[in-house]
Amino acid sequence: MQRSAVLVKPDGLQRGLIGEIINRFERKGLKLAGLKMTKLTDQQLDEWYAHHKDKPFFPKLKGFMMQTPVIAMVWDGLDAIDTIRKLVGVTKGREAEGGSIRGDFAMSVSNNLIHASDSIESADKEINILFADNELFDYASAVDLLIYSEEERGA
Ligand code: RTP
Ligand code: MG
Repeated sequence: MQRSAVLVKPDGLQRGLIGEIINRFERKGLKLAGLKMTKLTDQQLDEWYAHHKDKPFFPKLKGFMMQTPVIAMVWDGLDAIDTIRKLVGVTKGREAEGGSIRGDFAMSVSNNLIHASDSIESADKEINILFADNELFDYASAVDLLIYSEEERGA
């Protein structure tokens, strides 16, 4: 199983899409391992988006991410990182496929509602920035028996 960090960004919170987003992840069969509302700091964002620090959009991106609190989550599942990126859709909302979160609800490249980890390394880094060990939970899910085959549950 894999863990992925997800943020509902300030535009998602303002537009009342927190429940819609969580609902899609739950229905997919992903398992919630952690959840909090938090206001990202300048320092956290420098670390979170270190790979974008020389991009022209970086200062605006930071300002956008600090407009309101965000909803930070960790989701568990088999190949959760790639699976969640598919549910989220490509960065530019107006090019994202219908059926994806950005495809269904976003038009913008910057105001695109949601963040999702793009690799195992970034997931580890992002989870460490926002969650302490005792804020993450590993628990038996009754429906995992229905969601995965026996071999997949052991993966
Ligand atoms: P994210 O990291 O938030 O999950 O999104 P992503 O992988 O799809 O996109 P990424 O290339 O990592 O960019 C991070 C976030 O920066 C904003 N952005 N603005 N104005 C622009 O050209 C521009 N490009 C990117 C978006 O909020 C994007 O999600
Ligand atoms: Mg990214």
